[in-house]
Amino acid sequence: MEKTFAIIKPDAVERNLTGKILERIESEGFRIVAMKRVLLTLADAQGFYYVHKERPFFKDLTAYMCTGPVVLIILEKEGAIKAWRELMGATNPADAEEGTIRKEFAVNLEKNSVHGSDAPETAAFEISYFFSQTEVLS
Ligand code: CMP
Repeated sequence: MEKTFAIIKPDAVERNLTGKILERIESEGFRIVAMKRVLLTLADAQGFYYVHKERPFFKDLTAYMCTGPVVLIILEKEGAIKAWRELMGATNPADAEEGTIRKEFAVNLEKNSVHGSDAPETAAFEISYFFSQTEVLS
């Protein structure tokens, strides 16, 4: 079983879409093995997105991620990393396919409703960034 890391971002939490997104996740066969709703500090967001620190959108992205609560989730499924990225759809909702979460719910490239790890090393870093070992039940 592979684990991946997901975030329901402030725009989706604010619009009360948490339940709808979790429903999509569970109906696609993912198991939610850990979850918490938190308000990130700017330092949390900057550390989480450090790989993007030289990108022009880094300042806006990290500020946006602190504008309201987010839901942090660890998902488990065979091939979870790829499967969650497929279910999310393209980063820019304008490019996302029909049936994906971003196509259905995302507002724009920044307020794109959900995040997902893009590789096994990223998933391991992102999971351990927000969750301790005792919080994760397989
Ligand atoms: P996410 O999958 O969380 O990873 C980085 C985030 O940066 C991305 O989703 C978008 O919300 C945001 N972002 C803003 N502008 C861009 C951009 N030009 N290219 C990629 N990601 C962007």
